[in-house]
Amino acid sequence: MAFFNKNNIQLYESNFSDSYDYLYSWNERFNRERYFFEKLFKKYKTETILDCGSGNGFHVNLFLSFKGIKRVAGIEVSSLMIKKAMKNLNKADHEKVRFYKGDLTDVAKILKKADKFDMITCMYCISTALKGDAVITRVLKDLKKHLNKGGVLLIDDVNFDRIIEKELTSEVVTMDSDSYHFLQFRNFSIKVYKTLPFPILFTNGGKSKKTFIHIASKYLFAWLKNKHRAIRIYHQIKSNLVLDYIFVLSGFIRWINVQTYRESLWILKKEKLRKYLLQSGFTSFRFYSGYKFAAFNTNDFNMVVIAKV
Ligand SMILES: C[S@@+](CC[C@H](N)C(=O)[O-])C[C@H]1O[C@@H](n2cnc3c(N)ncnc32)[C@H](O)[C@@H]1O
Repeated sequence: MAFFNKNNIQLYESNFSDSYDYLYSWNERFNRERYFFEKLFKKYKTETILDCGSGNGFHVNLFLSFKGIKRVAGIEVSSLMIKKAMKNLNKADHEKVRFYKGDLTDVAKILKKADKFDMITCMYCISTALKGDAVITRVLKDLKKHLNKGGVLLIDDVNFDRIIEKELTSEVVTMDSDSYHFLQFRNFSIKVYKTLPFPILFTNGGKSKKTFIHIASKYLFAWLKNKHRAIRIYHQIKSNLVLDYIFVLSGFIRWINVQTYRESLWILKKEKLRKYLLQSGFTSFRFYSGYKFAAFNTNDFNMVVIAKV
């Protein structure tokens, strides 16, 4: 894990693409996001969608679970992820879907001028795929050209304000945690939370050099039993937030059994994103926290923005 590679393309072309399957409870994610998209699709009369960084096809499938969605395209740089996405697709949906293998920075070359969509989604994609002010602004401008009149751009990402401002170390303020107990393992400290809604919340050693791992009690047993266990650790290196994934493959936490991956994320705080959107010609946008349309809040887990031209 010593390397620091700004470009995550190799990461998703490695066996990390398999490990990615263990990062989420996909059913839980589906249920969490479905209501949100249902409301959006209704409001914006969405029929066609472009999903940037479409990964294993989770959102493509989620979108196609709505009757009104007629066509979905994905842009994805990793052939391994596209392979997964194709496998995860229902046969009946094949004709409605097209995956473009390519780098999002080349979107202007990948799509034809006439390819337009009612919605363009970037789910946990901008910060990993695009690095630097100029690139982000250019790509947002390019994406804008592929929106139908009245179409919307949806960006969902980590809430960088929370992580950076709060120097997230052992803090779990947003996770309505009401009780926990401690397990201590050498340099790890594991806190178990009764009401944490996510299986594991990453965390970092911060100044104390100790790694804190947060896990919800209802997931603990599965986590201990599971063949693969993933831990996420964030720390900052220059203008990137570095995200180390630690997968514990067998036994308890022993480095010998650990597989690690490093992803670097361009720090996309709310104000920065607002500037990028303005510079790219989006005139109206709303920032939310999570998928219930609650106003953006620095304390929440993710940042969602809906932008219109
Ligand atoms: C964090 S994953 C998110 C996947 C999916 N959107 C989700 O929410 O689960 C980021 C995805 O973006 C893809 N990606 C990374 N860099 C990219 C680039 N430059 N162009 C297109 N896709 C890229 C990765 O291969 C990966 O599948």
